[in-house]
Amino acid sequence: MKYGHFNRETDEYVITRPDTPTPWINYLGQKDYFGMISNTAGGYSFYRDPRHRRITRYRYNSVPDNQPGRYIYIRDVEKEDYWSPTWQPVKKPLDSYECRHGLGYTRISSAYNGLNSEITYFVPLDQTLEAWRVVLHNTKEEPVKLQIFSLIEFCLWDALDDMTNFQRNYNTGEVEVEEGVIYHKTEYRERRNHFAYFACSEPLAGFDTSREAFLGSYQGYEGPQVVRQGDSKNSIAHGWAPVGSYQVQITLAPDESREIVFLLGYSENPEYEKFSEPGIINKSRARETIEQYLDPAQLDADFEDLREYWEKLRSAYQVETPDRDVNLMINTWNPYQCMATFNLSRSASLYESGIGRGIGFRDSNQDLLGFVHMVPERARQRILDLAATQMKSGGAYHQYDPLTKEGNEKIGSGFNDDPMWLILSVAAYLKETGDYSILEEPVVYENEFGTEEPLHEHLERALQYILDRLGPHGLPLIGHADWNDCLNLNCFSKTPEESFQTHEDKTDGETAESVLISGLFTLAAKEMANIAHNCDYLGDPESYRKHAEKMMKNTMEQAWDGEWFLRAYDHFENKVGSQECEEGKIYVTPQGICTMAGMGREDGRAIQALDSVREHLATKHGIMLHQPSYTRYHPELGEISSYPPGYKENGSVFCHTNPWIMISEAMHKRGDRAFDYYKRICPPARESISEVHKTEPYVYAQTIAGSDAPTFGEAKNSWLTGTAAWNWVAITQWILGIRPEHEGLRVDPCIPSDWSEFEVTRKFRGSTYEIKVENPDHVSSGIRKITIDGESLEDNLIPVSEDRLWDKNLGCHPRCR
Ligand code: BGC
Ligand code: NOJ
Repeated sequence: MKYGHFNRETDEYVITRPDTPTPWINYLGQKDYFGMISNTAGGYSFYRDPRHRRITRYRYNSVPDNQPGRYIYIRDVEKEDYWSPTWQPVKKPLDSYECRHGLGYTRISSAYNGLNSEITYFVPLDQTLEAWRVVLHNTKEEPVKLQIFSLIEFCLWDALDDMTNFQRNYNTGEVEVEEGVIYHKTEYRERRNHFAYFACSEPLAGFDTSREAFLGSYQGYEGPQVVRQGDSKNSIAHGWAPVGSYQVQITLAPDESREIVFLLGYSENPEYEKFSEPGIINKSRARETIEQYLDPAQLDADFEDLREYWEKLRSAYQVETPDRDVNLMINTWNPYQCMATFNLSRSASLYESGIGRGIGFRDSNQDLLGFVHMVPERARQRILDLAATQMKSGGAYHQYDPLTKEGNEKIGSGFNDDPMWLILSVAAYLKETGDYSILEEPVVYENEFGTEEPLHEHLERALQYILDRLGPHGLPLIGHADWNDCLNLNCFSKTPEESFQTHEDKTDGETAESVLISGLFTLAAKEMANIAHNCDYLGDPESYRKHAEKMMKNTMEQAWDGEWFLRAYDHFENKVGSQECEEGKIYVTPQGICTMAGMGREDGRAIQALDSVREHLATKHGIMLHQPSYTRYHPELGEISSYPPGYKENGSVFCHTNPWIMISEAMHKRGDRAFDYYKRICPPARESISEVHKTEPYVYAQTIAGSDAPTFGEAKNSWLTGTAAWNWVAITQWILGIRPEHEGLRVDPCIPSDWSEFEVTRKFRGSTYEIKVENPDHVSSGIRKITIDGESLEDNLIPVSEDRLWDKNLGCHPRCR
């Protein structure tokens, strides 16, 4: 069953009924100011950091779900009837309803009793405000007198405190209403220099800033007293819960339309005033901005800029293939999701509360694989920021704070896979841009002034980190966990009796080893060899190759289980992910990463591992993480077995890992299989089973419940997941096969054999490549003939123009000389 459809012309997903199985959201904002908005206008906004600069409040665990939000109430004065044009929160049945989630904006239109409304929400580029453009149209034959009430609920900035520290919070809230603008200034007394404002284009017929005054005591959002009675209270909040509500009164003649603009913004006192004038918010700049942006002509121009911005970002890779879902994902939705993960890492979504996840080291390095082609300059900065949270040991803080960029002390390091992802992201950046100068950039360790070393030293240390930490089988130690946060093999238990007696069930071991990290290390060492081959910043390429060879050899000897790769050795040197295990016999992750790294390619064991995945892990809803799922808690394995079977890390289809199998299948020239896996988790390909899948059909979710779960096929945790970047890599670089390499653009398709042709436009290092692939013999891979500008080419590596190639001897691009 579907709840909407894709519109390819407008690049929108059009939701046609409000009661989607879960709230289907979109993100507003491009750089500093962000908001989440659902198809019924639920969600919140923040400036840069969703924890410390939360602008509006949102209630997880709210009933009904997904409240509050950016609300408009409309009241027909004569009929004394009111409704929400976004369905929530009043939920009166609408005569028509449509929500269009577009790139950087959401537009919700509806009709109720002859009044059409359309509300467009967006954040202008480079601004720290959001605009709500409300257009009302009277379709009736008689005039209608209306009262329009807006509502937002302010968050007291620190979102965690806001949810917990009521003995303080009920006293701190302060607002000011001046010349028709509501200012939310809680915290300004401590000379914190930020405040929020809420403004409207129309003269005020009334306002409210106290939630209780607006809603009425013991009332919810669905029927605020002020709206019911049509009478604003002009309340000023003193503590408790500050809100922003305007009342506008208009009369619309038959067929008349009217636009009303609301602005919600974030402002700061100028830097020099921060410490000199405590207790005063400087409204002059905010006022100027408000005046400028209440003008519909300005907003029209900004909306157009936003469209062009997305057009440009997406133009780096556009396709036309025989498959609708591929076209939708590559041209629009996959890059869009990749930008969301770039901007927000794992911080703010309907599943991430915005208070605890910061910017993840492992996560953001992987996310980079999906956006480096769109915003190479921002990717460069991200790499440098991430590397600055690395430690001299080569390990890294697992997360950093988006405001200060400092590593999170509480979580610390100890995820031993982390440093490998930095090498992979730097390699991706180099292949995309050819900008090897990044390797010379001085970068500190642990954000500590005076510790700078060039980035290439950071990479060396990353590799060394693994070599310094090999376990009893010569495999990399896992530390607290590797890619799988919940595989805590050193967090072992005493016997149940002992733990019962001591009330203590966990001690820290340190000898558990990860086969996944040995695969990652091999991939990373090979990338280092390639980088070294192309510039002079690293050591001898041969030395990295040797490390890779040694790790591969040892892994094949110590971690091949007969038909697939083992997953790990636990602290007691017991096998994890083996035929010998009672549960969790086979894991997908090492099959993907180790075969991608080239293990078992020569002797057929890679193919065997992939076939085992197909036999034991592949389902119609995607490839599961392991099988069988754990049915009881295994203290020696940790959090993984705390989940019920089939959910999350315990045997769900953890979508992030599926593209590793797609890529490996493509590397082994099995295009039909690679594509078959692609389609199983591809969101638009699951659109027709939305009632089962439940999350948005335009973005990937982190997990889909596995076959051991009672809700097999049900997705959760959409949007902020490494799935976006990795599927981008799988489909664009390995299945369509247009792949950046150090020396040029590789064209090496591995497609479903029934495709006759496809076309790609790819911008790469300053040139635009128009690539047409024809497949008259219906094969999956292999190139019979390749021509460029009419001339045939020996190899399928399309060279880049000379001046874009790094010159080792010059230490720069020739064009920079
Ligand atoms: C989840 C993981 C997540 C981790 C982050 C765990 O509960 O299962 O997917 O990465 O929390 O802290
Ligand atoms: C989500 C985390 O963000 C990611 O870093 C991790 O690899 C997966 N969960 C698997 O545990």
